[in-house]
Amino acid sequence: MTIQMVDLVTQYKKLKPEIDSAVAKVLESGQFILGKEVGEFESAASHYVGVKHAIGCASGTDALQIAVMALGIKPGDEIITTPFTFFATAEAVALLGIIPVFVDIDEKTYNIRVDLIEPAITSRTKAIMPVHLYGQPADLDEILEIARRHRLFVVEDNAQALGSLYHGKKAGSFGDFSCTSFFPSKNLGAYGDAGMIMTNNDTLESKARMIAQHGSRVRYKHELLGVNSRLDTMQAAILNVKLKYLDHWNTARQRNAAMYNKLLAAENVIKPFVAPERSHIYHQYSIRVSKRDALQEHLRTKGIPSAIHYPIPLHWQEAFQKIPGFVDRNKSFPVSEHITKEIISLPMHPELSEEQITFIAGAVTRFCEQL
Ligand SMILES: Cc1ncc(COP(=O)(O)O)c(C=O)c1O
Repeated sequence: MTIQMVDLVTQYKKLKPEIDSAVAKVLESGQFILGKEVGEFESAASHYVGVKHAIGCASGTDALQIAVMALGIKPGDEIITTPFTFFATAEAVALLGIIPVFVDIDEKTYNIRVDLIEPAITSRTKAIMPVHLYGQPADLDEILEIARRHRLFVVEDNAQALGSLYHGKKAGSFGDFSCTSFFPSKNLGAYGDAGMIMTNNDTLESKARMIAQHGSRVRYKHELLGVNSRLDTMQAAILNVKLKYLDHWNTARQRNAAMYNKLLAAENVIKPFVAPERSHIYHQYSIRVSKRDALQEHLRTKGIPSAIHYPIPLHWQEAFQKIPGFVDRNKSFPVSEHITKEIISLPMHPELSEEQITFIAGAVTRFCEQL
């Protein structure tokens, strides 16, 4: 049995006629930069999430950087985020000379702990950047309330949770901006790099769109220093096809997660926890076990891939240790530090079969029962 973490080829084969025809149309149109498919996908994606505006760009990392630039946050200012996320969340901040200030995570959801946000706010804090980790929205009500009280912006890092719900509304529709990644392995993945910025604010939309195109609204007239970060027309055409299936795929992920939950019988396996009033779309299905590295090796010998999201908390990353003004150089974030040692993501994608899940869960359970 061949098992993959993410099975992009099987998914492509199922959609081949639709995808091939969408790509061929772009090739025949010659409109490779900002062709009509980009606008069509922006409109479909904004409708899907329930936001007024969506701006395609070249990656999720660019989306975060452009959003922060559009908010006018300056070097030396601070943005609060979590140390238990992919590097790009805080990289996009630090690249602009802004200091990422970390706040530890909740032990059950792995999302930012809201009761620790206020103590981390200083006169330099300008925004909170929650990450909806693994596909589950962070505590948005509390985050928005803190932001309102302290006049801070909220930028949702929604790279992993497209389609998940918080009190019945889609994640990505709450902040001043939300940023999404269409990295191929994401639950809505392009066939290359791609990303998107979303907002309900007209002024922010027009500023972010301008920044993404060299700070220009009118050709060859540049109001600001921007970046060159556009959603490729070919990727937009592919994403337009795939978006129609996203809810179906998210449901399949939830079904697979429910099966893992049922079959992972060992008591010492900590399974994903879903907080009330939200849905989890299981971009990752990540469990915790005490002998994580040994389990990973055991799974490897059985031909079962796995991944560690993430092995190093961000405050320990050399790149952040080096940035001037980094306030967390000697700080400890005990929950994040602990969880990086225990977390392991099992294969998760809509194409997983019941047989595969049974095999994987059986291998994990047998190993863990002997610990
Ligand atoms: C939480 C998070 N933020 C940001 C990113 C960056 O997205 P991209 O790889 O499209 O630049 C990713 C994904 O890679 C991510 O998982």
